[in-house]
Amino acid sequence: MVIWTQGLYDLKEDYDWMEFFAGNAACTTYTRLQGHRGVKFDLKYNQHVPPGSINYMDINSPSGFVLAIVFILKGRVDQFVAWFGIKCSSWTQINTGTSARSPCASIGDTMRKSVAEANKMLERICLLVILVVCRGGCWILEQPNGSMLEFYPCFRWAIGQMIEIDGVKSVSRISWWMSKFGAATAKPQYAYSNSPSIRKVHRYESQPSKVKKDMKAKVQTCRKYTNKQGKECYVGTSELKDTEIYPDMFGYTISELVDDLRGKVYGCPRITKEISGY
Ligand SMILES: C[S@@+](CC[C@H](N)C(=O)[O-])C[C@H]1O[C@@H](n2cnc3c(N)ncnc32)[C@H](O)[C@@H]1O
Repeated sequence: MVIWTQGLYDLKEDYDWMEFFAGNAACTTYTRLQGHRGVKFDLKYNQHVPPGSINYMDINSPSGFVLAIVFILKGRVDQFVAWFGIKCSSWTQINTGTSARSPCASIGDTMRKSVAEANKMLERICLLVILVVCRGGCWILEQPNGSMLEFYPCFRWAIGQMIEIDGVKSVSRISWWMSKFGAATAKPQYAYSNSPSIRKVHRYESQPSKVKKDMKAKVQTCRKYTNKQGKECYVGTSELKDTEIYPDMFGYTISELVDDLRGKVYGCPRITKEISGY
């Protein structure tokens, strides 16, 4: 499909940075301020889809997936960063009552529309991640702590393939507290990347006592209640959604790491002499 679109897109390789599921796009904003060429992708950038049309900003749509591939093909070979802050709702612990996901059964209840859509989205992201490494780029996949996404079989398969190429240094996993970057709640997050430089986010690791204070945040993101069967349950409040927005300080920190991130990447397949000569 991408080849068919030849002529429609300019496939010049000129992006240093791309942010998928960018939302308010703090990382892209600061990356551009550093002088890099950055692009962003999110469902909310194209909300008025005429009847009968497909949303090209929906990664789960045919045109959205093609556009995402085009973004990556336009990344500067061996020198670009692709950030995937994938929609987390179906992967979180608070959603397990609906999704039926667990670390051992991360595929969940696929009869549910929300679960099937989230699985399709992640499977597409895994294909995009593979395209990123084939082009020598750096990928980062971010989620809130407790997200079951890291156990999903095709994600494990994709990182396993990279480990076969460069060993364990091919994939790094880190976690951090978003409150360290000015967020209103403590919000622990994790990320996987094929660049060990992602570990530099740890520079902002806080004192345990400070985290405890952040945990008593002024913002309540979930509420406990007892259901008719007498079971204790949790439900997210309207303030939970806002916690997905990256604080400015986080965007600035990531923008400062762009050169480090793309400067050292692993797990990229080597191009054989025959192909490189082609
Ligand atoms: C976890 S939020 C990321 C928010 C972002 N980090 C920020 O700072 O605003 C997930 C984002 O994914 C977007 N999204 C949800 N479904 C999508 C889809 N099918 N295709 C593309 N983007 C989608 C939402 O609009 C939302 O902005």
